[in-house]
Amino acid sequence: MQHVLSVLDIQDQISDILKQAQIFKQGHGTVEPLKGKTLAMVFEKSSTRTRISFEVAMYQLGGFPLYLSTSDLQLGRGEIIEDTSRAMTRYVDGVMIRAREHQDVVKFSRNSRVPVINGLTNLEHPCQALADMLTILERKGSFKVKMVYVGDGNNVVNSLLLATTLLGMDFTVACPPGYEPDPEITKEAFKIAEKTGSTLEVTPHVQKAVKGADVLYTDVWVSMGDEEEADQRLKDLQAYQINSELLKLADPEAVVLHCLPAVRDQEITEEVLNGPQSAVWDQAENRLHAQKALLYFLLKD
Ligand code: CP
Ligand code: NVA
Repeated sequence: MQHVLSVLDIQDQISDILKQAQIFKQGHGTVEPLKGKTLAMVFEKSSTRTRISFEVAMYQLGGFPLYLSTSDLQLGRGEIIEDTSRAMTRYVDGVMIRAREHQDVVKFSRNSRVPVINGLTNLEHPCQALADMLTILERKGSFKVKMVYVGDGNNVVNSLLLATTLLGMDFTVACPPGYEPDPEITKEAFKIAEKTGSTLEVTPHVQKAVKGADVLYTDVWVSMGDEEEADQRLKDLQAYQINSELLKLADPEAVVLHCLPAVRDQEITEEVLNGPQSAVWDQAENRLHAQKALLYFLLKD
């Protein structure tokens, strides 16, 4: 049985999942391949895109999604996550969890009888990375491109480090000192890059990094769970905004990505977010297609 807690868990299948996502997006593929299958969706944090796209994905594949907020589960009253997993996974065919602590999702998966999907933790957001790769493939036609992430080295970047290097893309993370991505994941990404030929860099020099980029990517400066550090973060990350001036340094054909939700005039300006080079709304749509492919791959008979 396969869990998807990290992009690494689908390292051998990522290209096939993306191909399947394109098939689903074109309206092709088996009709209702997950008929009779159920997916529990456990949320400990807010969500718009992840919740809706997973719910609609299950419906479109012929299955049934159950939305479960941890505050309504006994988990919210102190039942341990291991027991929640032992009971829950006797009812359903798969579980998607969004949790504060990555370790909780690991504990859940160790006690699960069915595949578990990480719907975002403090460490990774693999489903987002799948949709991002699909968007780059659509807009650029291949992964022979250079992507530059500008801003906080957070959960989204950790998953991007793995996805880009696995697919042979060049990737630079431009972030202030102290805001680098997870060191273990970065080390792993450098190892992968050596095998696949990706050029990987983590640097504080944002203008230099962005020169000639084909894809620019950013995410919020204050992720869920970082609210207490908000003031400091806004100060430290100020020079790492994607605005039209920065965009001019990239390739003229460059596209801009953001996993959303966005905070205008912090990590990105309105002008860029809704400008001609933005692909963020296609990127948001692609959560649906990429997750349909992931669910198909994990839950089909
Ligand atoms: N990008 C993303 O995961 O969005 P939500 O938090 O709305 O699910
Ligand atoms: N880094 C953000 C992503 C939200 C989808 C967060 O964790 O809040």
